[in-house]
Amino acid sequence: MKIALTFSSKEGLVEEYRNRRKKHEAGPTDDFFAEGDSMDTIHAVMQALRSLGHRVVGIEADEGAMLKLSAERPDLVMNMAEGLTGDCRESYIPMLCERLGLRYTGSDPLTLGICLNKMRTKEILGFYHVPNPPFQVFYPNEPVNTDHLIFPAIVKPIAEGSSKGIDNRSVVTDPAGAKLIIAEKLKTYEQPVIVETFLTGREFTVALWGNGTDVTVLPIVEIGFHELPEGAWPMYSYEAKWIWDVPEKPLQIFHCPAEIESSLKENIEELAKRAYSILGVRDWCRIDVRLDQENVPNILELNPLPGILPNPEDNSCFPKAARTAGYTYTEMIGNLIAIACRRTGITEFVNATLDRL
Ligand SMILES: Nc1ncnc2c1ncn2[C@@H]1O[C@H](COP(=O)(O)OP(=O)(O)O)[C@@H](O)[C@H]1O
Ligand SMILES: [Mg+2]
Repeated sequence: MKIALTFSSKEGLVEEYRNRRKKHEAGPTDDFFAEGDSMDTIHAVMQALRSLGHRVVGIEADEGAMLKLSAERPDLVMNMAEGLTGDCRESYIPMLCERLGLRYTGSDPLTLGICLNKMRTKEILGFYHVPNPPFQVFYPNEPVNTDHLIFPAIVKPIAEGSSKGIDNRSVVTDPAGAKLIIAEKLKTYEQPVIVETFLTGREFTVALWGNGTDVTVLPIVEIGFHELPEGAWPMYSYEAKWIWDVPEKPLQIFHCPAEIESSLKENIEELAKRAYSILGVRDWCRIDVRLDQENVPNILELNPLPGILPNPEDNSCFPKAARTAGYTYTEMIGNLIAIACRRTGITEFVNATLDRL
């Protein structure tokens, strides 16, 4: 079938940013372009789709995307576009697909928008009594009252990903430190910040795929912190993701399958499946989970557009979990397409895709 791969390439994001930036505006933060797909990833996904027998067209999620999608009218859009700015940036391509009546992989605009906003996600999880760290939100130009914070606490921009704005200084241990970092993050990221109780237990990330009653949890990945430099808080910070983990000296931070006893494994899997269903996630997702002091698993966040770096050397959790379950990169993409085809009723392609796996 004909598949359009929609993406936000790093180059595309830089160009879009340049075109949009007004002269008087400050330049981008150092981590501004942490998101976005490398050409390696884009080519690897296109190659995987082609080797599964599909015709593939690549579409950058820029201003021309709607015209291209409507001219191409693919049978399915494989969406991995993260977009550039605003809380709804991940919803852009799904919204165009809805408007054009095209089928697409992954969650709808609403779920993508909510999951990018950590406060909204936690409000919904809280409504259903799904454990997640206590939190408070602070807004630009409003008084900062830290009376109710529980320390240590972590200060995060409300709607970012890829650990943007989450560095070693983000963990604060007293009201004065909290005020300082909250002010700093509000100014740098120009959006509300969320301050959460810092959970010190083990951390896991859980890859899931499927829909309805047919959701499968892939082998759980544990994030181990023992290789982080001395003095670093035990967390998967911006530094750990992008600075301390270099190809010449990769951090051995992921352990998959995680070594955990079966009851904890079951609890984590149940928790992840509940969050997936409550947030209305479709097809696939990667969910961050951390244990609190009582060893109760808590949801940190949901990533309904998980990163899928092709190189096993790169620390990319969804492909790592899929690999541990026995899927090659191509098989992982093939299974995602099959899941989306099954959900959207493109039945003739489900069997054809599965046959090739
Ligand atoms: N409440 C918390 N307690 C402990 N660690 C946290 C908490 N929130 C975030 N972290 C750490 O920061 C990392 C990034 O935070 P996360 O909320 O997942 O943001 P991102 O969307 O950037 O991945 C997590 O993987 C975890 O290591
Ligand atoms: Mg995360």
